[in-house]
Amino acid sequence: MSTATLDLEMPTQTTTRMPVPAHYDRIVLTGFMGSGKTTVGKLLAESTGWKLVDLDREIERRDGRSVPQIFAESGESAFRRAEAAALASVLGQRRVIIALGGGAPEELGNRLLLEQTPRTAVVYLSADFAELVARCRKEAEDPAAVARPVLADADVARERFARRKPHYERIADHVVETGSLTASQCVDALLAKLASK
Ligand code: S3P
Repeated sequence: MSTATLDLEMPTQTTTRMPVPAHYDRIVLTGFMGSGKTTVGKLLAESTGWKLVDLDREIERRDGRSVPQIFAESGESAFRRAEAAALASVLGQRRVIIALGGGAPEELGNRLLLEQTPRTAVVYLSADFAELVARCRKEAEDPAAVARPVLADADVARERFARRKPHYERIADHVVETGSLTASQCVDALLAKLASK
């Protein structure tokens, strides 16, 4: 299986694809760090004409600090509170693709909110832990990359992954196995799954 497949292909032109079925107003992308939520979200937004909200960027916009700064200065629990508030607010929008942070589904309140928000498709972008770490390492080589405080300790990150995986699976209406797919293929697979249900 190749590593970091997801960021190898970023088409510059919008291709004609399947529209989002009319019974959805929101598509939520979930999965661990490195699962491609932001990359796939951008392509999906391009394909559908829907707006992309990356929840981390929304938190930063509301707070005025970067995610690593919030972690360092106020701690993870403050970040989680900001994340929950941002999610609740963004779920009020329509024709929106929401790329969650990897830890959002660990909070019961967020899971309930996602479950109870109508006309919302939750899609889990899955990959195995080794693949996810390889992608994150590759992304971190980019000077513009945002630091991920939660990845600082590999053992703790592995524990978090094990703890979160059942939550990703449970909240998902659809799962896209991203391992062997390019980002564009993930978008195609995702839209095909939405069309089927
Ligand atoms: C986190 C994932 C990050 C960001 C924060 C915490 C996590 O988002 O929300 O650094 O707990 O897994 P990405 O999954 O978009 O990297």
